[in-house]
Amino acid sequence: MAKQNGELSKNLLESQAHIWSHIFSFIKSMSLKCAIQLQIPDIINRHGSPMLLSELVETLAIKKERTQCVYRLMRILVHSGFFMKQSISTGYDEEEGEGYLLAPSSQLLLKEDPLSLRPYLLALLDPIVMDPWQDMSKWFQNDDVTPFHTTHGRALWDLAGQEPTLNQFFNDAMASDARLVISVILEQCGGVFQGLDSIVDVGGGTGTVAEAIAKAFPDTSCICFDLPHVVNGLDGSKNLKYVGGDMFEAVPKANVVLLKWILHNWNDEECVKILKNCKQAIPSKENGGKLVIIDMVVKVDEGGNGILETQLFFDMLMMICLTGRQRSEKDWANLFLDSGFSDYRIIPVLGLRSVIEVS
Ligand SMILES: C[S@@+](CC[C@H](N)C(=O)[O-])C[C@H]1O[C@@H](n2cnc3c(N)ncnc32)[C@H](O)[C@@H]1O
Repeated sequence: MAKQNGELSKNLLESQAHIWSHIFSFIKSMSLKCAIQLQIPDIINRHGSPMLLSELVETLAIKKERTQCVYRLMRILVHSGFFMKQSISTGYDEEEGEGYLLAPSSQLLLKEDPLSLRPYLLALLDPIVMDPWQDMSKWFQNDDVTPFHTTHGRALWDLAGQEPTLNQFFNDAMASDARLVISVILEQCGGVFQGLDSIVDVGGGTGTVAEAIAKAFPDTSCICFDLPHVVNGLDGSKNLKYVGGDMFEAVPKANVVLLKWILHNWNDEECVKILKNCKQAIPSKENGGKLVIIDMVVKVDEGGNGILETQLFFDMLMMICLTGRQRSEKDWANLFLDSGFSDYRIIPVLGLRSVIEVS
């Protein structure tokens, strides 16, 4: 009996811990956001050697009384793997004898790093994107298109079109991801874009990817196509031009259409419309027409790794902010078939995402 009671207590406490860990998951992202806003990674990086807490507090130019709070913030971020501690012999007390260093992933949070994800982090953790999460249960019981509509009364793209600050914020966030992705693609499978006469990046944002392709392949004519409020006023180059329009109406003609992080924003019916317009824009398969899609391919059966959990986070993000979702290979195959394509090839070179060639 005592053993049974012991088992019961153990289960109860485990359940409590499991729930607590979920209640407080937001603390990971909020602590990271705070460190980024205070520019802690930049400060430690500029310091160039393990940085003492006292040195960090001094550089942060905050009140000395907050020193212990900075220590606690840093402790959780060390625990989460964003910073490391290294002993330095100072002859002072124990705490002062350890200095902070950047962990590898913090390199991508530095303001000046060309591949920095800082703009993406700040945009995704902004109240504009965070508030709709509070309305998720309300949305399940109303008729709004998304929780984002419940909170803001309109679609994300419409709000971005009406509010220049959000537009800039969002475009910068996308550009930060685009810089990282295109640098990996050009290194890992640049052949996908080799020898093309022309390419149109549909929903190409402010042109980070199109610019990189134009630079890497000077004989390829590139178009960055996006909503007018995104591309208006942007200057092209010899082999890059910006075109404003609506992909639900038509897509500019080219040999190849690139869709990076577009289709996951839309539901199946909307995707088929976009894909059919893309098909109209390219030559036949025999004449070299193809789509290059950059998006996730979710393998739910292969759970148990961090990749699936993050893919599911993205799936929820799409449900909250947009009408889209993350898709399995079967979902993708159905979309391609329904849009009149006959062949596809998944190239898993982008971590959580893949390059999918469709013809
Ligand atoms: C998630 S962002 C991806 C941007 C870019 N492809 C990237 O990955 O960095 C989606 C893009 O689709 C654009 N977009 C939304 N609706 C559109 C439409 N109807 N026609 C053209 N572009 C659209 C948005 O303005 C935005 O730039």
